[in-house]
Amino acid sequence: MKSALIVYYSSTGNTEKVAFAIKEGLEHTRFKVDLKKPQEATEIDIFSYDLVCVGSLQFSGNLPNQWLTF
Ligand SMILES: Cc1cc2nc3c(=O)[nH]c(=O)nc-3n(C[C@H](O)[C@H](O)[C@H](O)COP(=O)(O)O)c2cc1C
Repeated sequence: MKSALIVYYSSTGNTEKVAFAIKEGLEHTRFKVDLKKPQEATEIDIFSYDLVCVGSLQFSGNLPNQWLTF
């Protein structure tokens, strides 16, 4: 079974909806999917996954502070 990591940050829910839709789609194709917020993913070895997806909102052209440690 292949593995995927989705790291996302969402404030008003748009990015979260997309993250969950991608998770569902990947699980239908038999991926094992880990879904994390950036602050939960600081110790993760992203190279241990077959696929890594990253999604975020933007504020005035910048990423939110929650990404600084990722
Ligand atoms: C104050 C403010 C600034 C924003 N700046 C940007 C921006 O620079 N670029 C962009 O593409 N979207 C920008 N947006 C739109 C948000 O990124 C967009 O609403 C996004 O879907 C929010 O994602 P979320 O629902 O996952 O939090 C901004 C929204 C707000 C409220």
